[in-house]
Amino acid sequence: MKKITIAIDGFSSTGKSTLAKQLAKVLGYIYVDTGAMYRAVTLFAMQNHFIGSGRTDFQGLVKSLDDVVLKFSYNETLGFAEMYLNGVNVEKEIRTLEVSKNVSQIAEIKEVRVKLVDLQKEMGKEKGIVMDGRDIGTVVFPDAELKIFMTASPEKRAYRRYKELLDRGDNVVYEDILENVQKRDYIDSHRDISPLMKAEEAIEFDNSDMGLKEQFERLHSYALRIIKKHEQ
Ligand code: DC
Repeated sequence: MKKITIAIDGFSSTGKSTLAKQLAKVLGYIYVDTGAMYRAVTLFAMQNHFIGSGRTDFQGLVKSLDDVVLKFSYNETLGFAEMYLNGVNVEKEIRTLEVSKNVSQIAEIKEVRVKLVDLQKEMGKEKGIVMDGRDIGTVVFPDAELKIFMTASPEKRAYRRYKELLDRGDNVVYEDILENVQKRDYIDSHRDISPLMKAEEAIEFDNSDMGLKEQFERLHSYALRIIKKHEQ
C-alpha cells in the first residue's frame, strides 16, 4: 500500500492525539505527538530554572538547546511511543497543569520551533506518519496528502482535560483548566511564528458533539479514500 502523510492540527484538548493514535495503529503508520516535544522542552526549561516562579531566561534556554535530547520510544504494552527527555521517560511529568501553563511561552521561541520542526520533518521523511500539533499542515508538512483541523468549544475541551487529569489522580479545578485552555488558544493563535491556523485545504472537524467512534470512522474513511487515490 502506498503511504501518505497525515497532518492533524487544532486547538488544545480537541482529542487530536487519541484519534491520531488510533488512526496510525489501524493504518500501521508511525504516530508523533508534537505537543509532547514542546512540553518536554518546557519541562527542561522548568528543571533548569529558565522559566517558573515569575522569572524567565529564554536566552539561557536557547543557549542550552543542544543539551535537550528528545526521543520517542515505543511502549508495547501501552501501544504508543512515550517521550524521553535526555534518556528519562517524562510522559507523566509533561502532562501536568504546571507544564501546560508554561508551554505556550516556550512554543513561541523561534529557536525552539526551528529545532523541533527539523526533528519532525526528519521523522516524516519516509511518509507513513500521522503527526498532530498546531503547524503540521501549514509548516512541517505543507504537502501532506490529508490535513485535518480539529475544533470544539472551549468548555467541552476543558471538561475533557479536567476528566483526564482527575482520572490520573491530579487535584485540579475545572475553572483553572478552562482558563488555561482559553489562554493557550489565544497565545497559540496569535504568536508571530507558525501560529495555529487552518491550512487552506484542511478538512475542518468540529467534534463538540461527536463521539469517539464516529470521529474515528470519519477520519479513517477520509484516509482510506486518499490512500486509494494515490495508488491509482
Ligand atoms: O497538543 P498539546 O496541548 O500537548 O500541545 C502543548 C502546547 O505546545 C500547545 O499549547 C502549543 C504547543 N504546540 C505548538 O506550538 N506546535 C505544535 N506543533 C504542537 C504543540
